[in-house]
Amino acid sequence: MKVLFVCLGNICRSPTAEGVFRRYVEQAGLSDKISIDSAGTSDWHIDKTPDPRTQAAAAKRGYDLSTLRGRQASVEDFTEFDLILAMDKSNLSNLQAIQPVDAKAELALYLPRFGISPDEVPDPYYGGEDGFELVLDMLEQASQVLLDEIKARL
Ligand code: 4NP
Repeated sequence: MKVLFVCLGNICRSPTAEGVFRRYVEQAGLSDKISIDSAGTSDWHIDKTPDPRTQAAAAKRGYDLSTLRGRQASVEDFTEFDLILAMDKSNLSNLQAIQPVDAKAELALYLPRFGISPDEVPDPYYGGEDGFELVLDMLEQASQVLLDEIKARL
Protein backbone atom coordinates (compact mmCIF):
# COMPACT_ATOMS: atom_id res chain seq x y z
CA MET A 1 0.00 0.00 0.00
CA LYS A 2 1.54 3.31 -1.11
CA VAL A 3 0.23 6.63 0.16
CA LEU A 4 1.19 10.09 -1.15
CA PHE A 5 0.32 13.32 0.67
CA VAL A 6 0.17 16.47 -1.45
CA CYS A 7 0.04 20.20 -0.66
CA LEU A 8 1.21 23.31 -2.51
CA GLY A 9 4.82 23.76 -1.45
CA ASN A 10 5.72 20.38 0.11
CA ILE A 11 7.40 22.26 2.97
CA CYS A 12 4.56 22.63 5.52
CA ARG A 13 1.44 20.44 5.42
CA SER A 14 2.37 17.39 3.32
CA PRO A 15 5.77 16.74 4.96
CA THR A 16 3.96 16.97 8.30
CA ALA A 17 1.33 14.51 7.06
CA GLU A 18 4.13 12.19 5.92
CA GLY A 19 6.10 12.36 9.19
CA VAL A 20 3.04 11.96 11.39
CA PHE A 21 1.59 9.06 9.42
CA ARG A 22 5.00 7.36 9.29
CA ARG A 23 5.09 7.26 13.08
CA TYR A 24 1.57 5.81 13.29
CA VAL A 25 2.58 3.14 10.77
CA GLU A 26 5.81 2.36 12.65
CA GLN A 27 3.98 2.08 15.95
CA ALA A 28 1.52 -0.32 14.33
CA GLY A 29 4.46 -2.44 13.06
CA LEU A 30 3.34 -1.97 9.45
CA SER A 31 6.36 -0.17 7.98
CA ASP A 32 7.07 -3.07 5.61
CA LYS A 33 3.52 -2.99 4.24
CA ILE A 34 2.81 0.73 3.88
CA SER A 35 5.07 3.19 2.09
CA ILE A 36 4.65 6.91 2.47
CA ASP A 37 5.79 9.97 0.54
CA SER A 38 4.81 13.61 0.05
CA ALA A 39 4.96 16.12 -2.79
CA GLY A 40 3.91 19.64 -3.76
CA THR A 41 1.84 20.72 -6.72
CA SER A 42 4.32 23.59 -7.25
CA ASP A 43 8.01 23.37 -8.16
CA TRP A 44 8.94 26.11 -5.68
CA HIS A 45 10.75 24.09 -3.04
CA ILE A 46 12.29 21.14 -4.87
CA ASP A 47 15.10 19.56 -2.80
CA LYS A 48 14.39 21.93 0.11
CA THR A 49 13.94 20.83 3.73
CA PRO A 50 10.57 21.51 5.39
CA ASP A 51 9.94 25.07 6.60
CA PRO A 52 11.80 25.72 9.91
CA ARG A 53 8.48 26.52 11.64
CA THR A 54 7.04 23.21 10.42
CA GLN A 55 10.09 21.32 11.68
CA ALA A 56 10.02 23.10 15.06
CA ALA A 57 6.32 22.43 15.68
CA ALA A 58 6.71 18.79 14.63
CA ALA A 59 9.86 18.32 16.75
CA LYS A 60 7.95 19.43 19.87
CA ARG A 61 5.73 16.37 19.34
CA GLY A 62 8.68 14.10 18.57
CA TYR A 63 8.50 14.03 14.76
CA ASP A 64 11.81 14.53 12.96
CA LEU A 65 11.13 16.01 9.51
CA SER A 66 14.72 17.12 8.87
CA THR A 67 15.57 14.37 6.39
CA LEU A 68 12.63 15.15 4.08
CA ARG A 69 13.19 17.03 0.81
CA GLY A 70 10.70 18.79 -1.42
CA ARG A 71 9.58 17.36 -4.72
CA GLN A 72 6.85 18.12 -7.24
CA ALA A 73 3.89 15.79 -7.79
CA SER A 74 3.94 14.18 -11.24
CA VAL A 75 1.79 12.17 -13.63
CA GLU A 76 3.84 9.07 -12.70
CA ASP A 77 2.62 9.36 -9.11
CA PHE A 78 -0.81 8.24 -10.30
CA THR A 79 0.56 4.87 -11.36
CA GLU A 80 3.08 4.54 -8.51
CA PHE A 81 0.72 5.21 -5.57
CA ASP A 82 -2.53 3.61 -4.39
CA LEU A 83 -3.85 6.64 -2.55
CA ILE A 84 -3.10 10.33 -3.20
CA LEU A 85 -4.41 12.66 -0.51
CA ALA A 86 -4.69 16.40 -1.16
CA MET A 87 -4.59 18.85 1.76
CA ASP A 88 -6.97 21.44 0.25
CA LYS A 89 -9.35 21.91 -2.65
CA SER A 90 -6.85 23.88 -4.69
CA ASN A 91 -4.30 21.06 -4.35
CA LEU A 92 -7.02 18.61 -5.39
CA SER A 93 -7.93 20.54 -8.52
CA ASN A 94 -4.25 20.94 -9.46
CA LEU A 95 -3.87 17.17 -9.16
CA GLN A 96 -7.07 16.50 -11.13
CA ALA A 97 -5.57 18.60 -13.92
CA ILE A 98 -2.66 16.15 -14.34
CA GLN A 99 -4.54 12.94 -13.45
CA PRO A 100 -4.10 10.45 -16.31
CA VAL A 101 -7.09 8.42 -17.55
CA ASP A 102 -5.36 5.16 -16.59
CA ALA A 103 -4.54 6.29 -13.04
CA LYS A 104 -4.20 3.49 -10.49
CA ALA A 105 -4.30 5.83 -7.54
CA GLU A 106 -7.44 6.91 -5.78
CA LEU A 107 -7.30 10.71 -5.52
CA ALA A 108 -9.15 12.41 -2.65
CA LEU A 109 -9.32 15.37 -0.32
CA TYR A 110 -7.66 14.03 2.84
CA LEU A 111 -9.93 15.03 5.75
CA PRO A 112 -13.38 14.44 4.20
CA ARG A 113 -12.18 11.15 2.73
CA PHE A 114 -11.90 9.91 6.33
CA GLY A 115 -15.03 11.59 7.65
CA ILE A 116 -13.19 14.47 9.33
CA SER A 117 -14.21 18.13 9.13
CA PRO A 118 -13.38 20.80 8.06
CA ASP A 119 -12.71 19.93 4.42
CA GLU A 120 -9.27 21.47 4.22
CA VAL A 121 -5.98 21.44 6.14
CA PRO A 122 -5.35 25.21 6.20
CA ASP A 123 -2.13 26.55 4.72
CA PRO A 124 -0.05 27.76 7.71
CA TYR A 125 2.67 29.44 5.60
CA TYR A 126 1.57 33.07 5.99
CA GLY A 127 0.14 32.76 9.51
CA GLY A 128 1.42 32.45 13.06
CA GLU A 129 2.66 29.55 15.16
CA ASP A 130 -0.89 28.45 16.02
CA GLY A 131 -1.42 27.43 12.39
CA PHE A 132 1.33 24.84 12.60
CA GLU A 133 -0.16 23.36 15.78
CA LEU A 134 -3.58 23.17 14.14
CA VAL A 135 -2.08 21.37 11.13
CA LEU A 136 -0.50 18.81 13.48
CA ASP A 137 -3.75 18.33 15.42
CA MET A 138 -5.71 17.68 12.22
CA LEU A 139 -3.09 15.38 10.73
CA GLU A 140 -2.74 13.30 13.90
CA GLN A 141 -6.51 12.80 13.96
CA ALA A 142 -6.63 11.89 10.26
CA SER A 143 -3.63 9.54 10.51
CA GLN A 144 -5.42 7.32 13.00
CA VAL A 145 -8.48 6.95 10.76
CA LEU A 146 -6.35 6.42 7.65
CA LEU A 147 -4.34 3.74 9.48
CA ASP A 148 -7.49 2.00 10.68
CA GLU A 149 -8.86 1.87 7.12
CA ILE A 150 -5.63 0.53 5.66
CA LYS A 151 -5.34 -2.10 8.43
CA ALA A 152 -8.81 -3.31 7.51
CA ARG A 153 -7.78 -3.54 3.84
CA LEU A 154 -4.43 -5.38 4.38
P1 4NP B 1 2.49 23.98 2.05
O1 4NP B 1 2.64 25.54 2.42
O2 4NP B 1 1.71 23.96 0.75
O3 4NP B 1 1.72 23.44 3.20
O4 4NP B 1 3.89 23.45 1.92
C1 4NP B 1 3.18 26.52 1.58
C2 4NP B 1 4.55 26.60 1.42
C3 4NP B 1 5.08 27.62 0.64
C4 4NP B 1 4.24 28.52 0.03
C5 4NP B 1 2.87 28.42 0.19
C6 4NP B 1 2.34 27.40 0.95
N1 4NP B 1 4.79 29.58 -0.74
O5 4NP B 1 4.04 30.48 -1.15
O6 4NP B 1 6.02 29.57 -0.99
